[in-house]
Amino acid sequence: GDIRLWGGRFADGPAEALEKLSASVHFDWRLAPYDIAGSRAHARVLHKAGLLTEDELHQMLAGLDALERDVTSGAFQGTIADEDVHTALERGLLERLGKDLGGKLRAGRSRNDQVATLFRMYLRDHARVIGGLLADLQEALVGLAEAHPDVAMPGRTHLQHAQPVLFAHHVLAHAQALARDAERLRQWDARTAVSPYGSGALAGSSLGLDPEAVAADLGFEGGSAANSIDGTASRDFVAEFAFVTAMIGVDISKIAEEVIIWNTKEFSFVTLHDAFSTGSSIMPQKKNPDIAELARGKSGRLIGNLTGLLATLKALPLAYNRDLQEDKEPVFDSIDQLELLLPAFTGMMATLTVHGDRMAALAPAGFSLATDVAEWLVKRGVPFRVAHEVAGACVKECERAGIELDELTDEQFAAISPHLTPEVREVLNVPGALAARDGKGGTAPSAVAAQLAAFRTDLEQQ
Ligand code: ARG
Repeated sequence: GDIRLWGGRFADGPAEALEKLSASVHFDWRLAPYDIAGSRAHARVLHKAGLLTEDELHQMLAGLDALERDVTSGAFQGTIADEDVHTALERGLLERLGKDLGGKLRAGRSRNDQVATLFRMYLRDHARVIGGLLADLQEALVGLAEAHPDVAMPGRTHLQHAQPVLFAHHVLAHAQALARDAERLRQWDARTAVSPYGSGALAGSSLGLDPEAVAADLGFEGGSAANSIDGTASRDFVAEFAFVTAMIGVDISKIAEEVIIWNTKEFSFVTLHDAFSTGSSIMPQKKNPDIAELARGKSGRLIGNLTGLLATLKALPLAYNRDLQEDKEPVFDSIDQLELLLPAFTGMMATLTVHGDRMAALAPAGFSLATDVAEWLVKRGVPFRVAHEVAGACVKECERAGIELDELTDEQFAAISPHLTPEVREVLNVPGALAARDGKGGTAPSAVAAQLAAFRTDLEQQ
């Protein structure tokens, strides 16, 4: 029989080419449990409005339970002829309850308000999953920082040696970015906790159904949609979700890029655990950072999913348009990719061997203490403009002689400037340079310890 929900006014069935084009059941099937939950809530408001008897409600709920079991076991599946998950589940219900009772559930709802509601529920669940995986990664980064509290490394700008920083400080910088992404997910969730159910196709329902009851039933803390047109047609919640997942991808890609560089022979800052690296089919010696590279690559894909979705949404007239069926695959993909990537990436970071001696040895290289010479002069009353010039002259002399700043003799210092007394050596060492930066957010061990403690508290409170 014709299972279309809209066969009444049509003389002919759909062309095969249309059916194929139209079908979404192969990707929206993952919404099935949410569709069934929505149907239960809808059955309850139909009953509340006097459109289902007590007995019919019980049969309906039992039918939905049976359908859910068959969906879970795989005994019931959607087909291409079903078009979408909503139609397939309606068929399943009709098969179980018969047309008279089964056919009552559709009153006062549309696939337009259904899909907008289910999509929110699905994304909210996965926001929680991704938030948990993100917390695991933050935990791994905090663990790295805690395991190496005193290791200095070259801090860089423009990828050039800039000033020494603590490795823990550097790692926590990444963790801070991820913490903001996690916060973005929570804020998105609060904004998305609004149910479009009851909006119908676009205009609401004339059947006296209670949208607020459905919203409460389905766990939407923000109640039901204020505007049925907006409820069915808006997808900014999808775009925002795609942005946050893309941002997570970008933030992870930045860590990935550094791990790739740190893992080179030239840097030798880290060694990857065997279980989280790969070999080469031809070069026996190779141990490759594939997880980091996949992270870097997948971030491009996540950005693509966001931009593709925004292009789909651009200039759509109100209210629902079938273009909106294109809203699901991009974010489903972003979710799938992140849920694959994050555990592997966290494993890689948690098992990283850090070569602290190598990092520390390079921390003062490249004249990275020149700023400390200048600031030391400033503390002795020399204007910064002069101090900057004097420290620059020290670097110039070192480059000429092929030495580092702390290798300049007292005579060489004095020849550069009479202000450069031998006491300048107090700041020409990495521990001194680090310890001096002890304001909030600075790289001094005391400041980093405070940052770490605060970060840990926030992470545990999430
Ligand atoms: N499968 C559609 C979607 O994902 C929902 C169905 C609405 N279809 C319609 N012709 N109004 O957007």
